[in-house]
Amino acid sequence: MSTKQLFSVAIDGPCGAGKSTIARALARQAGALYLDTGAMYRAVGLAALRQDIPLSNEAAVTRLCDELQVDVRYEAGEQHIYLGDEDVSEQIRAPEISAAASRVSAYPGVRRRLVDMQRAIGRGCSIVMDGRDIGTKVLPDATLKIYLLADPAVRARRRYLELQQKGLPDTYEMVYQALLARDHDDMTRAASPLARAEDAIELDTTHLNLEESVSRALELLSHRLEGRI
Ligand code: DC
Repeated sequence: MSTKQLFSVAIDGPCGAGKSTIARALARQAGALYLDTGAMYRAVGLAALRQDIPLSNEAAVTRLCDELQVDVRYEAGEQHIYLGDEDVSEQIRAPEISAAASRVSAYPGVRRRLVDMQRAIGRGCSIVMDGRDIGTKVLPDATLKIYLLADPAVRARRRYLELQQKGLPDTYEMVYQALLARDHDDMTRAASPLARAEDAIELDTTHLNLEESVSRALELLSHRLEGRI
């Protein structure tokens, strides 16, 4: 796809629906920057755990986030996340960091700082962002909003296989229960809960493989840019 027009795509949905894989591929094929906003919440969660800050202490976590030097850099077209000078892109993927990210993301002060950073990164370029509140909060005027979903058992299976490939010991049942808990927390928190924006197009990936999902997303984007939808 080639277009000179600047555009933004917001991809939201629960964990394991394929957001980051689909968003990254869509960005590459459509010639846009990709921003995985979840990585930023994960970095704050990692920093809090490292500094022994109780995740239940909203004031302390918010202060940490305000003082934290968290940085998104692009190296050979790939997003890396830094805490100070340390590249923590790998460390933030551990299951305990998923849970910590979900906890810290409930705090409005944390969200304010990270949302400001996300908007600044997206300014003046074509961008595909994925997260939980992109269509509802970060990019309310996005060119295209996609709400990705999939059956929870299918999402858990995908996440389980990913963890297995990394050699992590979690069982399918552990992954499934953690996923349900995180869905619940992300959807019921007071600050910017995960929700489908009214003008988002739903894309159910339960029965789609990656290639099919990406081509569907790409088709939606070109139709939107051509004014057909
Ligand atoms: O997409 P992810 O699993 O890397 O996200 C980690 C956590 O961060 C997730 O539990 C919810 C939170 N998050 C959020 O609240 N808002 C976003 N835009 C992205 C992630």
